[in-house]
Amino acid sequence: MPGYELMGVEERESLNEIFETSNGVLFPHGFDALRNGRFRVREFEKAFSDKFSCKHTQAVTSGTVAQLVAMVAMGIKQGDEVITQAHTFVATVESILAIGAVPVIVDVDDTYNIDPIALENAITSKTKLIVPVHMLGNPASMDKILEIGKKYRIPVLEDGCEALGATYKGQNVGTLGDVGVFSLDFAKTITTGEGGLVITNNSYYYKIAKEFHDHGHESNPDFPRGRDTRSIVGMNYRMSEMQGAVGMAQLKKLDFIISKNREHKSFLKSNMDKSKIAFRNITDVEGDLGDTLIFNFENASLANQFLELYIASGYGTKNIPDAIDWHFSGKWNHMFANVTSYRDTWKTQWSKTAELLARSIAIPIYVKTIKEELEKHLDVINSIMAKI
Ligand SMILES: Cc1ncc(COP(=O)(O)O)c(C=O)c1O
Repeated sequence: MPGYELMGVEERESLNEIFETSNGVLFPHGFDALRNGRFRVREFEKAFSDKFSCKHTQAVTSGTVAQLVAMVAMGIKQGDEVITQAHTFVATVESILAIGAVPVIVDVDDTYNIDPIALENAITSKTKLIVPVHMLGNPASMDKILEIGKKYRIPVLEDGCEALGATYKGQNVGTLGDVGVFSLDFAKTITTGEGGLVITNNSYYYKIAKEFHDHGHESNPDFPRGRDTRSIVGMNYRMSEMQGAVGMAQLKKLDFIISKNREHKSFLKSNMDKSKIAFRNITDVEGDLGDTLIFNFENASLANQFLELYIASGYGTKNIPDAIDWHFSGKWNHMFANVTSYRDTWKTQWSKTAELLARSIAIPIYVKTIKEELEKHLDVINSIMAKI
């Protein structure tokens, strides 16, 4: 599943190097006399752009902030409607609310990602952005989503926080829409502890993202940083050199992480008893990140029976259902109770998503699991299936 499993000597050496070769300079800019020419956050951004074949990468402090910075760059303002999905992490909607925009949350389909029909039905003249989320490693239905975006001339911001490294029809998620964002928090495919990335091929969006995340600094080469020019009001969402250093080491492990995810998931998926379940609809089987195995039963009662026995056998689920309160908008009355600008009636919406999630189970797939453990896990799943 996540990069934290492989946190090791490479990350430690990369961190030590900051002290050995750059006098412990942790700030991503300036201090030229001390740092001996090394800018680790910039190196990480460049390496990420190269790996993901995108023009620009802006590192920031979290995935939540990455979405905020991306929306500022894309010109999203107070009162604009932003469409996203009912099954996502709370952060997707928090960022929309932080900007003063209006979240319009629609149901997911059997991909557990935004339902393109529900998305199109929700579009109004106020819709200024579509935010599909590639939940739990499965790319959203990007062909249809991009077609809708094009039809109504609405840009698409991909929330790839839970799918860093997944591909859709051969292309990395995050590079299909106008802008993509990733999280590098401690539970993600690769991690810098906390951290986020904004990626885009649009040079104007990149320019604003870069300036906004750094107090408006234009990084004008004609001036020292203290005299730098500025034209927009910014904030401080800068990543530190420590995160950049760890990010470099983790990025080198990405291909290994993904290949192990896929191998382990495929072992369970192909050998498990399928008589009582349906698997999540994977939009691109080759491109699925493979870090989560999701299946659903005919009804919630069967899912609960499975869950009870699965937990009793010493296993746990990932998000569905163990952290569902943070991943389904139907649970976020704390967020919507006082939001008058919210367009839908939050108490009655998303019945389709609620019904699907209530009869679903998400199993985490780990990178370091050995063959014997996988076989034991499979036996546990199959013996539970036989009992319910
Ligand atoms: C779908 C989704 N969006 C956004 C985020 C926010 O990322 P971060 O934890 O780095 O702020 C997460 C993190 O869990 C996420 O899963």
